[in-house]
Amino acid sequence: MSNYVYIATSIDGYIADRNDGIDWLETVPNPDQKDLGFYDFLNRVDAIVMGRNTYETVLGFGGEWPYPKPVFVCSTTLKTIPESLEDKVFLIKGTAEDITRTLDRRGYTNLYIDGGKTIQGFLQADLIDELILSKIPVLLGGGTPLFGVLPGHLEFELLSSKTYLNQIVSLRYRRRRG
Ligand SMILES: NC(=O)c1ccc[n+]([C@@H]2O[C@H](COP(=O)([O-])OP(=O)(O)OC[C@H]3O[C@@H](n4cnc5c(N)ncnc54)[C@H](OP(=O)(O)O)[C@@H]3O)[C@@H](O)[C@H]2O)c1
Repeated sequence: MSNYVYIATSIDGYIADRNDGIDWLETVPNPDQKDLGFYDFLNRVDAIVMGRNTYETVLGFGGEWPYPKPVFVCSTTLKTIPESLEDKVFLIKGTAEDITRTLDRRGYTNLYIDGGKTIQGFLQADLIDELILSKIPVLLGGGTPLFGVLPGHLEFELLSSKTYLNQIVSLRYRRRRG
């Protein structure tokens, strides 16, 4: 049972700018649409646990639903999912512990946790095993932070660092326990 984060942040640690924008993710030109390790990562997980705000951002892109794995959207306010997504997207709520346990019982043992507040909830419960952070070379100066307050220190060990397109550093950390 492992929970993974794969997310891009600005140098100053934001995942969206002050207007909830993410176009800065394209700061580094990628004319050949080179994959930055995301598809390999997706192959390692059974399901995606996504915060409601992130889900609404993805829905706002329009077009085809992009995720090949089941997506569990965390929300206390959403009541329905569009009919076209009913076999791909499911609502879930509860603590990070509840969510992890419920999905584990259903056979989803490796989870991709996405969305700032959602990730923070899992970190507060010390339920993140791996963090893969792609650093985009831009300072946003404000916006949606990836990290928040924690009850204590959480130590990680660096598993690898890769540079993509000469500009984006991808840092892979594993939680060091005990
Ligand atoms: N840079 C990147 O790679 C990247 C990746 C992902 C997202 N983003 C951006 O980040 C922003 C979204 O992040 P965010 O911090 O605003 O939040 P988020 O985690 O996407 O969504 C927060 C919402 O999720 C729900 N939620 C979270 N934990 C829950 C739980 N345990 N049980 C029930 N509901 C729970 C709540 O919804 P309710 O209010 O409905 O209860 C909460 O308001 C968007 O702008 C998105 O585009 C960027």
